[in-house]
Amino acid sequence: MSINGNFPIPKTVVLVGLMGAGKTCIGKKMAQAMNLPFVDADAEIEKAAGCSIAEIFEAHGETYFRDRERMVIQRLLEDPVQVLSTGGGAFIDEGTRATILDKGISLWLRADLDILVERTSRRTHRPLLRNGNHREILSGLIDERYPIYAKADITTDSAEGSADITTEQALQGLYDFCKNKTE
Ligand code: S3P
Repeated sequence: MSINGNFPIPKTVVLVGLMGAGKTCIGKKMAQAMNLPFVDADAEIEKAAGCSIAEIFEAHGETYFRDRERMVIQRLLEDPVQVLSTGGGAFIDEGTRATILDKGISLWLRADLDILVERTSRRTHRPLLRNGNHREILSGLIDERYPIYAKADITTDSAEGSADITTEQALQGLYDFCKNKTE
């Protein structure tokens, strides 16, 4: 990698973006490059609830899930600087977004529809994709959510191909953002 991740990060880096954008994969690689801990908000919600996200949606509904998600992300943003990957709806929730914008550095991993459809087709655990055609659902979510993800501090395109290239571009975006803030 031409950028080694060896620069000071003032706040936790929060990855946001749609399901299938690669937030967990790229987040782990960024954390490794920067020698920071990595944490996944969805995994933390599951740990705290003692069941899967699909089960939380089924038993209590989406509003309940969003409340848990907001609380868990608020808690994780009190921890020392790390890389935090969030579920696709986290940054869409007004309260969660306000916390992320205040306490973290947000990075939107933007991917086009074909990539999202391809990547989500391999898994069946996502409640929002269970009842319908992935392409139609994701296309609707792009229309709804992309203007909101665009409020993130940094945008990086998650294209087809090497995750190392996307990671490098994300680190470059982060480096530029941090540099501008300190100048
Ligand atoms: C959701 C995305 C999922 C998970 C939940 C809801 C969403 O996370 O939080 O199923 O609203 O887009 P991933 O983006 O990690 O799949």
